Amino acid sequence: MIKLTVNGAERSFDGDPEMPLLWYLRDELGLTGTKFGCGIAQCGACTVHLGGTAARACITPVSAAEGQEITTIEGLSPDGNHPVQVAWRDLNVAQCGYCQTGQIMQAASLLKDSPKPTDQQIDENMSGNICRCGTYPRIRAAIHQAAGQAPATKGDRL
Ligand code: FES
Ligand code: FES
Repeated sequence: MIKLTVNGAERSFDGDPEMPLLWYLRDELGLTGTKFGCGIAQCGACTVHLGGTAARACITPVSAAEGQEITTIEGLSPDGNHPVQVAWRDLNVAQCGYCQTGQIMQAASLLKDSPKPTDQQIDENMSGNICRCGTYPRIRAAIHQAAGQAPATKGDRL
């Protein structure tokens, strides 16, 4: 029996310990905000927080989450008003939206570690989160806004 905490609730799992955490979150708990993209840690669509740090749920076996605190997009904020979520809405970051929960979870993790990130820190930290719609300039601007910095860098096309 694997015990873990998801969005503040204690859970136990007695299935295959090697099952990807992503399947557990989506199929067993119904937390479908976390998306499946590539399944091989190359796109970031499945990003959650594991022990407070961004992690790819598609390659994380449930066993690796034992005893840990997992946060998904559904648990990032009680009312959807985490500063990153507010900035995302203000700047209309999303296009199709598929990658966006992963982007938001990655950005929230970045701001926890680097509250005032530079463009370079943002680009490096977010480089594993792919957006087929190309929303990168708005993502960067929203991260600056969430950090309390000027929302757009000169030259950015939003
Ligand atoms: S689905 Fe996990 S990184 Fe792409
Ligand atoms: S908003 Fe469409 S893939 Fe990122």
